Amino acid sequence: MSTVYLNGELIPKERALVPVDDRGFLFADGIYEVTPAYQGVFFRLERHLDRIRRGLAALRIDFDPEPLAEVHRQLLAANGLEDEPITTVYVQVTRGVAPRAHAFPTSPVRPTVYAFAMEFKRAPREAWEKGYQATMVPDRRWARCDIKAIALLPNCLAMQAAAEAGSTDALFVRDGVAIEGAHNNFFAVLDGTVVTHPATNHILHGITREYILELCHDLGLPVEQRSIQLEELWEADEAFFTGTTTEVRPTVRIDGRMIGDGRPGPIATRLMDAFVAGVERAATAATRA
Ligand code: PDD
Repeated sequence: MSTVYLNGELIPKERALVPVDDRGFLFADGIYEVTPAYQGVFFRLERHLDRIRRGLAALRIDFDPEPLAEVHRQLLAANGLEDEPITTVYVQVTRGVAPRAHAFPTSPVRPTVYAFAMEFKRAPREAWEKGYQATMVPDRRWARCDIKAIALLPNCLAMQAAAEAGSTDALFVRDGVAIEGAHNNFFAVLDGTVVTHPATNHILHGITREYILELCHDLGLPVEQRSIQLEELWEADEAFFTGTTTEVRPTVRIDGRMIGDGRPGPIATRLMDAFVAGVERAATAATRA
């Protein structure tokens, strides 16, 4: 039985209960975050906490996420996960419990804060070397995809469509543009340039995406943050998704159409290797410090 965090307490998961009037349950009125840890050391936790802060501010939920840094560490310790190669901590903050009415409760309510830790298994190298398939799904989400809101129904429907098509990833498409995945960001390599959608309101500003852009810079790879038209995608050398639970995942077919030569390309491979080395280096440096 795992130990989870709910409203200030570490408790067995079976005791973690939320009232049915929670606005997260009734309205999906809240935000969430998923942060990775490598060898028990969180990678860029401050950036994840910042994104929580921005999301809460956008939703006007009054809650300081700073103490959650310690909760992240406590969850790994309480579940004996500190020595696991990779773990993730999920945290969600909802506006709290109030009788159902769309506008915010008029008297102050305490936000509901729930968090849990779990192991993450990196895909075996053979699967990675074969490459993955993606399915395109029309992007009918709202216009604030930069907020990591718990309202994920379009993302769930997209992932179900992908699963039914035998794909690992769903690629949201809006007005002929490849936007992002249902739980990850999307990159294409076009004429040797690494291209990804700009960090607008139409995508989540992924922390892995940001790190990959830094790695591109370090490796001297040319980068452009601009819209990727579908016509360009069919001519792309490579394509890949990035995210906390994706890391770097090469896409070799989209809706059955081959990308590049149908195998993970050299740039995705270099970025994956640099990513793995980078997160491991960060974990070792923090352990030594
Ligand atoms: N998803 N885009 C979307 C829509 C996402 O939901 C995510 C993360 C990302 C990648 O962001 P990051 O690199 O910061 O993880 C992009 C999490 C992992 C999830 O929903 O489980």
